[in-house]
Amino acid sequence: MEKIGFIGCGHMAKALIEGLIENNNYKILGHDRNPNNTNWLATKSIPVFSLDEICHEADIAVVCVKPNDMYDLCQKMSKIISKDLIIVSVAAGVTLQSLNTMFPNNKVFRAMPNIGAKNNLGITSVYSNDDNSKIVEIFNYLGKAFEVQDENQINLHTSLIGSGPAFFFEIINEFENRLSELLPPDVSKRDITLLFLTSLISSIKDGQNIEELIQSIKSKGGTTEAGLNLLYDKEFVKIFSDSIDAARDRALDLSMD
Ligand SMILES: NC(=O)c1ccc[n+]([C@@H]2O[C@H](COP(=O)([O-])OP(=O)(O)OC[C@H]3O[C@@H](n4cnc5c(N)ncnc54)[C@H](OP(=O)(O)O)[C@@H]3O)[C@@H](O)[C@H]2O)c1
Repeated sequence: MEKIGFIGCGHMAKALIEGLIENNNYKILGHDRNPNNTNWLATKSIPVFSLDEICHEADIAVVCVKPNDMYDLCQKMSKIISKDLIIVSVAAGVTLQSLNTMFPNNKVFRAMPNIGAKNNLGITSVYSNDDNSKIVEIFNYLGKAFEVQDENQINLHTSLIGSGPAFFFEIINEFENRLSELLPPDVSKRDITLLFLTSLISSIKDGQNIEELIQSIKSKGGTTEAGLNLLYDKEFVKIFSDSIDAARDRALDLSMD
């Protein structure tokens, strides 16, 4: 059984832990400086260790702190780890080269997951100069994982897949705001949202072409066309794409170089 130690157990680590917890091939350990998160680990019956302990107990350390906390943490870790510890960083923008400089004797991986991992529906890119197979296997259990050959693709993944859910949630949030104008108080907005999204998912699961799906709803001079025309006039598609670029560029800025 492989021991996976999560260092920093906030939002991302919790999603990864929830997705992995049922897998008997892995034993989960945790470390965090924030008592809210160590309490959460305790509620999941996950052993909480000091940094020193987890670095010695774990086979694989998954480092899940914010990019601006990475440098201090890596400094501390570099003084206590053995060369056998495999290190996986999920931090946006922290380059493999920086990690290799910090941990010259260890196998080091960058993984860029997203919160879908919580329900084993995550999408993860993995980048490294080492054999990725063991790490890809872990993230495949959490959804779908693939290797990327160019580190710049990690930044695009950070934006499209890591930040992407927030862009969609923003749209869903407004959808629910408008639903409250429509629904009687005893009908759950969330239930309606779920039905709505499930029907969209069914359509794309059937492999239907997105352009054709749009055309199938849009009739000339109709309501959909009116709404879509406003989206096009306001350059919604460009705004969405620019948001992806903005998040990708921010990932570049966050490098600890
Ligand atoms: N959230 C996402 O959807 C997502 C997606 C892809 C990648 N990521 C990456 O995942 C990483 C973590 O993001 P997050 O949203 O999970 O952050 P978070 O919720 O703030 O969790 C980070 C946790 O690590 C703790 N921590 C920081 N430095 C520490 C140290 N030196 N020793 C022990 N614990 C420490 C923090 O404690 P304090 O609360 O005291 O600071 C916090 O509890 C980031 O690098 C981010 O780029 C996140």
